[in-house]
Amino acid sequence: MIACLADARGRGDRGARGGRSAGRARFTGRSGEAGEAPVSALAERARAVPGFKAESGETLPLGREGVALGLGKGGSLSPSTMRTAAAKLVRALDRMSLHKVRLFFADPLPLRDGKGTPLDPALLGRAFGEGLALANWRFDAFDGSASKRTPAQRPLSIGIDDADFRAGVEHGLLLGEAVNLTRRLGATPPNICHPEWVVRTSRRLARELGLRCRVVDFRSAERMGMGGLLSVGRASASKPAIVVLEHAPRTIAPAARREHLVLVGKTITFDTGGYSLKVNNGMKGMKYDKMGGMAVLGAMHAIARRRLPVRVTGVLAVAENMVGGDAYRPDDIITLHNGVTVEVTNTDAEGRLVLADALSYACRHLAPTAIVDMATLTGGVVVALGHFCAGYFCGDPTLTSRLEQASCESGERIWRLPLWPEHRDFMRGDHADLINSNPQRSAHPIQGAAFLSYFVEESVPWAHIDIAGMDSVEHPTDLFVTGPTGYGVRLLADLAEGFTQRAPRAASA
Ligand code: BES
Ligand code: ZN
Ligand code: ZN
Repeated sequence: MIACLADARGRGDRGARGGRSAGRARFTGRSGEAGEAPVSALAERARAVPGFKAESGETLPLGREGVALGLGKGGSLSPSTMRTAAAKLVRALDRMSLHKVRLFFADPLPLRDGKGTPLDPALLGRAFGEGLALANWRFDAFDGSASKRTPAQRPLSIGIDDADFRAGVEHGLLLGEAVNLTRRLGATPPNICHPEWVVRTSRRLARELGLRCRVVDFRSAERMGMGGLLSVGRASASKPAIVVLEHAPRTIAPAARREHLVLVGKTITFDTGGYSLKVNNGMKGMKYDKMGGMAVLGAMHAIARRRLPVRVTGVLAVAENMVGGDAYRPDDIITLHNGVTVEVTNTDAEGRLVLADALSYACRHLAPTAIVDMATLTGGVVVALGHFCAGYFCGDPTLTSRLEQASCESGERIWRLPLWPEHRDFMRGDHADLINSNPQRSAHPIQGAAFLSYFVEESVPWAHIDIAGMDSVEHPTDLFVTGPTGYGVRLLADLAEGFTQRAPRAASA
């Protein structure tokens, strides 16, 4: 299959806005009559070029008239191949310095994939839009006077005629923008992005998005007995906080009348490990220890922008894990928000301490009907699952199905891991109710989940998603430059969207 992109160079608006606005893929809507050169003629020319196989993502410049984009064999088309093809197209357009193009399909989009599964043009369009937005981004906020890098991509605008596909592209671009917000915050270094900066930024975003923002600051956290958050964040010059962002739309979908989804994110702006200090360069990259919370923020952005008719609240547990005279220590015994006591065995297992207070706060104060937390919690999940998917834990069959569905729709992979009573026993302490890490070094991702389970009320469906392998990439891929990926934004936004409809059939628990 081939899509042809006719260059709109002749229309006098190419490169109208120069400048450095990375990450902006703009969509121009209906583009009118087919381009100056008939699409079929462009496609024929492309097919006649020896070596051009129209494989998915393969691009071929066609002189002044435009560029052909291969989409592979019709049967192999899927949201995933569309996303990657769009990303490759962005790179090609960038090489050709084209920023305003119109897209035409030389062949009609197939109705089914190779396995006979129906293909929805809106889903294909959405994936295409995501690919455009994700590939058209890099972090250039700190390009200084010595920077020799090429300027960031200029705005890219694409006109598309197919109405369903176009609606999908608009959805994809909106999601891409939310993911890119998460990536930008993620890439912001810890000397700037510290807890108080996160609080200020959340307040500003909430104002822009029409979300309500409440903050549990250091003093309130003390009054509320949040010993986990306070201990972890105490040694930082920038004090810890819980940020609460509420999306409470006037219109609620009938299926969502009773629902209140709460999304909780680990937001450690930098993790030194504390006195259980990280060694051998293990600290480098720990600015990404905030990516769970940044994914929640990005998801709230998408949820608000799409005006989803369901109540959703985002909760960020924000702290910086530092050393200093007043830092918490191994052997400390602390009392958390729900009265559970914890002996600290390892100050580097800090994420579960801040999340525990946030989860308990959510249960006590927000009346959730489902809670999902997202966290870069353990290196162990990377050992177990690599960088291919996140690991998750969920004991509720309906929430499990909703998550699996959101994962299918977003293409953000998750894999379920076990959490049994024996795992919960493994976290019991001799000197306090719990220990934060068992010195028998095994099943680390499950230990994290087991620990957290003591802070969620049993009646509330809950899932914990460990994204430690997914928050950033060290080498560029088709979709992502080196740096934060914004993983989880689309998964959580799709999960929220799923709550506007009746629950899918429950998976086995
Ligand atoms: N932030 C880390 C987890 C992490 C490690 C994320 C590597 C991304 C890459 C977390 O706070 C941590 O240090 N976890 C410890 C837990 C252990 C002390 C029980 C770990 O995974 O080693
Ligand atoms: Zn840690
Ligand atoms: Zn951490």
